[in-house]
Amino acid sequence: MSDPSAKTPATASGTATTGATAGPATSSKPGSQAASPAADAPSPESQTSQTSNPHILPASHWAQLPPVNVREDDDSAFEDAASSTASLTASILEYRTVHGRTYHSERGNALSWGPNDAIHDESMDIFDFADQYPNAEVIGVDVSPQQPQWIPPNLRFEVDDVTQPWTYEPNSFDYIHIRWLVGAIPDWYALFREAYQALKPGGYLESQESSCMMTSDDGTVKDGSPLDQWSKVFSEAGKKTGRTFNVIEDDLQRKAMEAAGFEITYETDIKTALSGWPRDEKLKQIGLYTGLAVGQDIEGFLTYLWTMVMGWTPAEIQVYAAHLRRDMRSPNVHAYYPTRIMVGRKPLTAGTAS
Ligand SMILES: C[S@@+](CC[C@H](N)C(=O)[O-])C[C@H]1O[C@@H](n2cnc3c(N)ncnc32)[C@H](O)[C@@H]1O
Repeated sequence: MSDPSAKTPATASGTATTGATAGPATSSKPGSQAASPAADAPSPESQTSQTSNPHILPASHWAQLPPVNVREDDDSAFEDAASSTASLTASILEYRTVHGRTYHSERGNALSWGPNDAIHDESMDIFDFADQYPNAEVIGVDVSPQQPQWIPPNLRFEVDDVTQPWTYEPNSFDYIHIRWLVGAIPDWYALFREAYQALKPGGYLESQESSCMMTSDDGTVKDGSPLDQWSKVFSEAGKKTGRTFNVIEDDLQRKAMEAAGFEITYETDIKTALSGWPRDEKLKQIGLYTGLAVGQDIEGFLTYLWTMVMGWTPAEIQVYAAHLRRDMRSPNVHAYYPTRIMVGRKPLTAGTAS
């Protein structure tokens, strides 16, 4: 890896901005809530909760099952919320509202399916890169102004759409970290080309992406179960918006990095459990935290895409979420989702001309 103490900028596109809460929310008019999906995607309004994909159960399926006990579905321990805003222009704070959840303001071609409100932020973690490397100049970029207010002096946040051409000086970064943009990027090749351009020769791009596939190695995530349907509905929604959720399955990180000119220097696959089922103590802890983080705001993960793109109603989502929580917590279900970390280096021999 490059020297993290270098005084040149490092960036964390779409990554370094979690942990705080959002500013004031404004409601948008019905029908004006969705950012533009890909040109060939059907408009959200034209969707119904039925889909032609034979592997996806209709939303009504979950209401026909015996109801889940409400106490079993109680996540009240995570309802605590803080509040903070950054000093940002008012338009950035003009959030769109979908069924009571807020999403980033209209900006470029961005379509982030995750809410930016306090409930959802509680389920994300905080990126402490700047604290860890006080001699590095760190820039955090996100389309939503959900950054913490108290930040180290070597860190600054920018609200921007990373799917647009980057305006950074070519050959100016030592390290670029991009995490969890799955389902938000129409063209991974273009994104990594921008990163390549912005990096110095010898600089590194690290990409960490997770799959929407909730799976198991022992068949305990069964076809038609709530966990299985999570995978399938998200995957279908990604096809409809033209922003794939199958980044890992299609090996897109490698393909797009190599196409941009990176040499792959590191790759690893991680299985993140969704509950405390792993025997290994560390994996068990990770599973417990992940289960809490996901379980804390299942509705937040689902609301945008499952209503606006897949045509579910909020009530259908709530019923499904209760079944999903129970599935996740079952000791008999050994579910995990795959994550892939890929690091590429811009060759030292790469010309410094932009
Ligand atoms: C799942 S969260 C991950 C947050 C953080 N990167 C992390 O790893 O903890 C995805 C983040 O990407 C941001 N995002 C989505 N599309 C974006 C875009 N086109 N440009 C910049 N940020 C974007 C969202 O606002 C959201 O904060």
